[in-house]
Amino acid sequence: MKKRIFSGVAPSGNLHIGNYLGAIKNWVKLQEEYDSIFCVVDMHAITMPRDPEELRKKTIEIAKIYLAAGIDPEKCAIFIQSHIAEHAELMWILNTIAKTGELSRMTQFKDKAELSTGDGGSFENVPLGIFNYPILMVADILLYNTDLVPVGEDQLQHIEITRTLANRFNKRFGEDTFVIPKSFITREGQRIMGLDNPMKKMSKSAKSEYNYIALSDDAETVRRKIKKAVTDSGSEIVYCEDKPALKNLINIYSLLGNKNPKEVEKLFIGKGYSDFKSDLSEVIINFLKPFQEKMNELSDEKVLGILRSGAEKVRPLARKKLIEVKKKIGFML
Ligand code: AMP
Ligand code: TRP
Repeated sequence: MKKRIFSGVAPSGNLHIGNYLGAIKNWVKLQEEYDSIFCVVDMHAITMPRDPEELRKKTIEIAKIYLAAGIDPEKCAIFIQSHIAEHAELMWILNTIAKTGELSRMTQFKDKAELSTGDGGSFENVPLGIFNYPILMVADILLYNTDLVPVGEDQLQHIEITRTLANRFNKRFGEDTFVIPKSFITREGQRIMGLDNPMKKMSKSAKSEYNYIALSDDAETVRRKIKKAVTDSGSEIVYCEDKPALKNLINIYSLLGNKNPKEVEKLFIGKGYSDFKSDLSEVIINFLKPFQEKMNELSDEKVLGILRSGAEKVRPLARKKLIEVKKKIGFML
């Protein structure tokens, strides 16, 4: 029996090369080896205010990104979270065994609380959906007997709480109810940092567009953003810890240009930032161009069809698990 993986991305903001390198690129390899389920988590997206039309557009766009990256709907299931009501139902049940303390310690909660309140994140003003966002993610993962969750490093805390709640439920209601999942991180793409601040990860919700390279950026935009990217003192192109900005740019170069960081260093011996940056822009553009062409070839209708049939593939799994859970906790069926 193949092991199962489950992962998801929220249809919010602009997906960037960090999302691709930290998450989606790895999924493409994993689908060959694992029984794979990839979700567009629209229910997570609405924890921040969303324009409805924009949400619909982004939901399809994320699916197009999955497909253009090489996720194959013949090999795995791609679906929209809100198409499977069991996610919300299981979430409610899990809410009853989670503790508010556990949730308030989540770093993503603290970050989002600050973003959403505009007053430094005073607890009173944080939407409840941001607070228990992790429980919905726990439900996503546990519904499908997931063994491994491929995500970027920033999601590790959420995988940890998934394990905690699965264990807690199992202890109380039956050891074999939930599979205890593990995170699955590939080292290289772990963390792509912001172009405007190499101490913080590249983020879709960044205030400045100079933080990220979006998967939809055109050539001119890429050149403009890379030109503005912050660099470190000194003029040599070297890959080391005390030059975090340059290290990040070399990482991007090496991951998108299929070279290791040492090879990239060698290419630029005796050259400076301006040569490096203009080559880096071309490496990024060469990656983005065919990617965007593939996305443009996919019609919205075709993609929605793929998402709907993905939901039909996973629905029986979700139903079965939820019935099992309801029986164990004493609901009448
Ligand atoms: P998010 O953009 O936070 O919804 O994340 C979607 C997926 O992309 C998750 O698996 C993240 O861990 C991953 N991810 C997000 N930002 C980065 C980044 N800057 N570097 C690497 N992976 C990232
Ligand atoms: N919270 C994840 C993120 O911000 C997205 C997500 C929702 C997810 N449900 C999931 C990831 C289940 C993996 C598995 O990136």
